Amino acid sequence: MRVCVIPGDGIGPEVLGVATRVLQVLVPSVEFTEAAAGWATFERHGVALPTATLEAAKAADAILFGAVASPSHNVPGYRSPIVQLRRELDLYANIRPTQVRTSDHSLVVVRENTEGLYAGRERLEDDGATAIAERVITRQASARIVRAACELARRRANDLQRPGRVTIVHKANVLRVSDGLFRETALAVVGEYPDLSHDELLVDVAAMHLAQNPSRFDVIVTTNMFGDILSDVACIHGGGLGLAASANFGDERALFEPVHGAAPDIVGRGIANPLAALECVAMLLTWRGYAPEAARLRHASAAMLRDGPHTPDLGGNATTEELAADLMSVMSDK
Ligand code: NAI
Ligand code: MG
Repeated sequence: MRVCVIPGDGIGPEVLGVATRVLQVLVPSVEFTEAAAGWATFERHGVALPTATLEAAKAADAILFGAVASPSHNVPGYRSPIVQLRRELDLYANIRPTQVRTSDHSLVVVRENTEGLYAGRERLEDDGATAIAERVITRQASARIVRAACELARRRANDLQRPGRVTIVHKANVLRVSDGLFRETALAVVGEYPDLSHDELLVDVAAMHLAQNPSRFDVIVTTNMFGDILSDVACIHGGGLGLAASANFGDERALFEPVHGAAPDIVGRGIANPLAALECVAMLLTWRGYAPEAARLRHASAAMLRDGPHTPDLGGNATTEELAADLMSVMSDK
């Protein structure tokens, strides 16, 4: 198994350092290729996603991505490399699961990853006094993301031995044309899955329900930006950003990344929670058919989440390295 590792900026290299060591222990034959992307890469080479990185990502069996620090002001020539990677590799399905900490409930946000408001079609008019962002929704991308959500809901229903449910989230009451198309396409696709129940919610009330009662949800499917925001709401129930992992799937390729960003407020202090990155490794292993290895890792992570040690984001005072050492010893005890 060849894994392309893109550590990126900020705490990306800190958490992927742990993730790659653990992956190496679980699958000793794994081969890593490291590739650059992000703000530091842009400052050094004038490009945030070098062609060599794109090529390395394409050549690998799977990709592990840390985080990148994208500035919030416009920098000519800079584009978010993760958004670009998802589009270049056509990784259209962003799967963001949450395991609710206070119960055994889990839910998944399935986010469309290639279009919507993140299509990058922005411009200024009126001598810079008007800014316009185009929100691109296509029938084809909507259909394939809803199909991915339905397939996932069906697998979860089988695994968990209970009926599956898909919630379509949109804002078609206001965005009548773009989310109108998303909604209409989504309803047609869920109609092909009579074994699943489905409902629909407007995104604002969906956020309220998600904050208040996560057990209301099984699989949520939505457009790009709504999914980005709702998945951060969902992850609160799982213990916060330090635990939230995600997968980006295309038809053949997959990239695994923590939901969190570069965390500039804690970078270099050695206290980043590596559990999100480790769950990315577990997702990667599952996808590549290494189920026992994934189970071993998840077992060790769950024990650590229950009994400690914990990093400061979970109220503890352990360091990233202490967690790594503890995890390695738990895994080798088995
Ligand atoms: P962030 O996710 O980097 O941090 C938000 C808060 O969560 C911070 O207080 C941070 O310390 C904490 N946090 C995040 N991950 C943690 C971990 N593993 N352990 C402990 N605490 C953790 O989001 P923020 O601050 O909005 O963005 C910072 C930078 O990251 C920006 O430049 C942004 O563009 C970028 N970003 C990149 C993403 C990516 O590469 N996929 C995703 C989100 C943001
Ligand atoms: Mg986000």
